[in-house]
Amino acid sequence: MTLIVSEKKNHMDKYITLQQIDEATGAIRGRTSHQPRVGLILGSGLNALADSVQKADFIPFGDLPHWPRSTVPGHAGRLVIGELAGQTVFVMQGRVHYYEGYSMSQVTLPVRVMQRLGLEMLFVTNAAGGINPEFVPGDVMLITDNLNLVGMSGANPLMGPNIDELGPRFPDMSRAYDPDLMNLARKVARERNIPLREGVYCGLSGPSFESPADLRFLRMAGADAVGMSTVPEVIVARHGGLRVLGFSGISNKANLDGSTLTTHEEVIEAGKVITPKIETIVRGVLRSL
Ligand code: HPA
Repeated sequence: MTLIVSEKKNHMDKYITLQQIDEATGAIRGRTSHQPRVGLILGSGLNALADSVQKADFIPFGDLPHWPRSTVPGHAGRLVIGELAGQTVFVMQGRVHYYEGYSMSQVTLPVRVMQRLGLEMLFVTNAAGGINPEFVPGDVMLITDNLNLVGMSGANPLMGPNIDELGPRFPDMSRAYDPDLMNLARKVARERNIPLREGVYCGLSGPSFESPADLRFLRMAGADAVGMSTVPEVIVARHGGLRVLGFSGISNKANLDGSTLTTHEEVIEAGKVITPKIETIVRGVLRSL
C-alpha cells in the first residue's frame, strides 16, 4: 500500500506546477526590464544567432529556479533577452532534450515561462538529419508540420493534470506552424536569395541516431527531416496560444542505406553554414512583424 502511494507521488512530481512556472517567470522579471514579444529557441550548433542581440541581459539557466540545465556540448545554456531586428526577443541559447533525462514537462518549462511573460510568438530552430533525398547538408528547411512519434507512444508534454489557466485539455494541432509566419519566411528567403526547403520534421527521443531501417520507415511515414527536439516545445506553445515558426538546419544526410556514419561533430560543423542563412531569414521576419 505504502509503495503504491509513493509511486503515485513520484508520478505526479514529474509534472511542473503553475507555481513553479511563475517562480521561474518572476526570477526572469527580476533580471531584465525588457518586455519580449518573440521567443527563439536555438538548436545544436545554431547558438551564434544570439550574439547579434543588442542591449542584452544574460541569464544562465543555472540561476533560475526549476529551470532544466543543458548538458550537451554545442548548447550554451543561457537566456539572452534584448533587441533583434526591431523586436524585443527572448532567446534560449541552447535547449534541453528529453534524452537528457528530464520529463517532458521540464523540457517545456521554458515555453510555459515565455507564455507567462506575455510572448506572442515562438521561433524554433534545430539541427536535423535530412531524410528527403533532395536535401543536402547546409540546407535550411521551413517546418510545415511535424510527426510526433515520441508523443504518439505516450510521452506528450501535456500529459498529466491540465492547467486550465494555461490552455485547453485537448488543443488543436491542425495548424501548428503559423501559415502567415510561414508566408513571411518564404517571402524573406526569396528576396534574399536563400534557398528554403520545406517539409515535415519528425521528433524522436534520441540520443542514438536512427538505424537505416528506422530511417526508411520514417521516409515512408512522410518525414523530410528527423531530430531529437522541437515537437514538445511546439505542442506546449500551441496549447498556450503562441504562434509558431520553425526551421531545421539540415546537418547531415540521413543514412537510409547504412553506408555512412552520423556524428555530433558534423552536426555542430554544419551549423556554421546554416546559422547565417537562418539568421537572415529570422531577422527579415522580425523586421516585417
Ligand atoms: N538524426 C537525429 N537527430 C539529428 C540528426 C540525425 O541524423 N542530425 C542532427 N540531429
